[in-house]
Amino acid sequence: MTARILDGKELARQIEENLRAEIATFIGIVKRRPRLVVVLVGDLAASASYVKSKRDAAQRVGLDAEVITMPITTDTAALVALVTRIASEEHAPADGILVQLPLPAHIDTLAVLGAVPPNRDVDGFHPENAGLLSQGRPRFVPCTAAGVQRMLIDGGVETAGRCAVIVGRSDIVGKPLALLLASRGRGGDATVTLCHSRSTDLPAYTRQADILIAAVGRPHVITAEMVKPGAAVIDVGINRISALEGGSRLVGDVDFNAVREVAGWISPVPGGVGPMTVAMLLSNTVLAAELRLGKR
Ligand code: GUN
Repeated sequence: MTARILDGKELARQIEENLRAEIATFIGIVKRRPRLVVVLVGDLAASASYVKSKRDAAQRVGLDAEVITMPITTDTAALVALVTRIASEEHAPADGILVQLPLPAHIDTLAVLGAVPPNRDVDGFHPENAGLLSQGRPRFVPCTAAGVQRMLIDGGVETAGRCAVIVGRSDIVGKPLALLLASRGRGGDATVTLCHSRSTDLPAYTRQADILIAAVGRPHVITAEMVKPGAAVIDVGINRISALEGGSRLVGDVDFNAVREVAGWISPVPGGVGPMTVAMLLSNTVLAAELRLGKR
């Protein structure tokens, strides 16, 4: 069997197209563009690249997007003050505020995420939004988790009653995705297992999975032997490795070439979850703007 490809790039393009029309309607009513402000601290190349993708996509669909870059020496108090200042800006009100993670180790990440007003928290990382998701009444769903669920729905992968195994328990992906897939309704109702670095006999879990999601951040940890034939395999990992021919290339957490011969569906890297994360951020920003306007 050769797996069907879950093409995140194409799905993200369709989502962007729909958002462009929604944003045009918003601008017609409010006479301004929905605005997204992204804060980037330090000089991690991967973070800078993700932030550039987010800004480029935001501009493509007609959002007003600004990136504020801060030096790696910025401390927690200064970052909290910056987020608070962005939130109280009246000239150019930010509908969505996002602080790119990871932050440098000396910064109290939870204090910074807690400073983002929950109604502008387009990442869904504020405790209020995390709580709403856990109670089954989501407002802003973390973008990667939302993107994975959307890919499954769009790809026709049934989740209800199926066994979903997530490898990786991060606050950004694993935990919210576990909640989403276990929630009631479309793209949910799965029986979810959340595996992590302390799980014993990981393959015993992954081989049970009708839906296997790899969100570890290590190249090729999911091999063909770990996959149930016909499963849907979603690769959240984006790892840069040295290429044989020199330079570097991006690979996921899944051994794509081997696993595609076993799986029923598979998402590629690049071109899978990555573009969907960005599309969901755009969608959350439009939602934030509409909520602030009282339109939704
Ligand atoms: N770093 C990796 N993924 C994300 C994300 O979805 N949002 C933010 N803010 N930082 C990230």
